Amino acid sequence: MSLCASFSTTTSRLTSLPSSLSSSSPLSLRFSFTFRENRIPVKSLKDPFAARSGRVLVKAQATAPASSEAVKLTPVPSEMKAWVYGEYGGVDVLKLDSNVAVPDVKEDQVLVKVAAAALNPVDGKRRQGKFKATDSPLPTVPGYDVAGVVVKVGSEVKDFKVGDEVYGNVNEKALEGPKQFGSLAEYTAVEEKLLAAKPKNIDFAQAAALPLAIETAYEGLERTGFSPGKSILVLNGSGGVGSLVIQLAKQVFGASRVAATSSTRNLDLLKSLGADLAIDYTKENFEDLSEKFDVVFDAIGQCERAVKAVKEGGSVVALTGGVTPPGFRFVVTSNGGVLRKLNPYLESGKVKAIVDPKGPFSFARLAEAFSYLETNRATGKVVIHPIP
Ligand SMILES: NC(=O)c1ccc[n+]([C@@H]2O[C@H](COP(=O)([O-])OP(=O)(O)OC[C@H]3O[C@@H](n4cnc5c(N)ncnc54)[C@H](OP(=O)(O)O)[C@@H]3O)[C@@H](O)[C@H]2O)c1
Repeated sequence: MSLCASFSTTTSRLTSLPSSLSSSSPLSLRFSFTFRENRIPVKSLKDPFAARSGRVLVKAQATAPASSEAVKLTPVPSEMKAWVYGEYGGVDVLKLDSNVAVPDVKEDQVLVKVAAAALNPVDGKRRQGKFKATDSPLPTVPGYDVAGVVVKVGSEVKDFKVGDEVYGNVNEKALEGPKQFGSLAEYTAVEEKLLAAKPKNIDFAQAAALPLAIETAYEGLERTGFSPGKSILVLNGSGGVGSLVIQLAKQVFGASRVAATSSTRNLDLLKSLGADLAIDYTKENFEDLSEKFDVVFDAIGQCERAVKAVKEGGSVVALTGGVTPPGFRFVVTSNGGVLRKLNPYLESGKVKAIVDPKGPFSFARLAEAFSYLETNRATGKVVIHPIP
């Protein structure tokens, strides 16, 4: 099978950081956790919550060395293994192909040997044909999030060289002509402006869990004009985006109070991420609370209810579903600059990637990983690792 590359040429939107976001911020950690990684025995950690639930562990990360495995760099082949679909549909349209052409790099791109990728709901919706009107032509190698190693650089690339460990969201505009060659492959070509150096203290699987979700969290908070001292309610605080909205609001944007919703099983996670109030959506209606918020960040599609929980003059950002005024919607723009600016928070352990404990899923288990994502019950990110 041969694939033709189709790349977006739209211009990157530059974002400015809130005054609270500075690489010189103190590294004091009030808490530190991560999801269970197979290599760490649960009983070795002195965290009562971990012992009780078996799902979350406490682990000092600020000074933890990178646990990233070495990625073997071999000469770049002409063909690679990649997951491909040639028609829209359910997970059964996904086929593993061993003879996909390795994409060429344009002047401003690097070729990344993919070590880990992550799934986002947009991957599933795109595969189902929900964005047909603005999609690139089929066949498609899906995948937005990547972490890996640079193996080739285009003639105009300035910031990266062969051997650099990088991560990013490969599609500048999530829905406008996303790449035909995504990250669920051995190699992917990415504009250097969409990438950042991988934080040193996290491994490839954790790095792949971040880009699209953290860019969405950051851009959404920024678009609400979030500033220190404001309060926020995050709907779906346990998902890929919401788990990062809680952390960024608290650690980066200086929120005075963070509330978030999830089902019963994820309430402790919300608190460990920094939520002051964890609301069980199976037992309580958040809009019935007497407390109202400066910002409501809707990452589940409940805007009509969300606007009832915002203070007068406040903001409601809705990532999906219908929009009720004063709510507004945006579609994330990939921006390596945001990742670079947030790297100090990731390297200090103040902000952490949440990898769903059912994963990482091996490359061969992609269809299973997609099916799991599409249950809408994943906690944090569904990560694919190792690749291949
Ligand atoms: N506009 C954009 O640019 C943009 C960018 C990124 C994502 N999105 C969209 O935003 C949505 C969230 O994305 P995501 O990656 O964060 O999703 P996700 O990780 O797949 O969300 C899964 C989470 O949803 C929670 N959940 C399910 N029903 C819920 C409810 N009624 N109330 C609160 N939480 C509930 C689940 O928690 P429990 O298991 O505890 O129920 C689970 O942890 C998706 O629709 C996605 O397409 C849009």
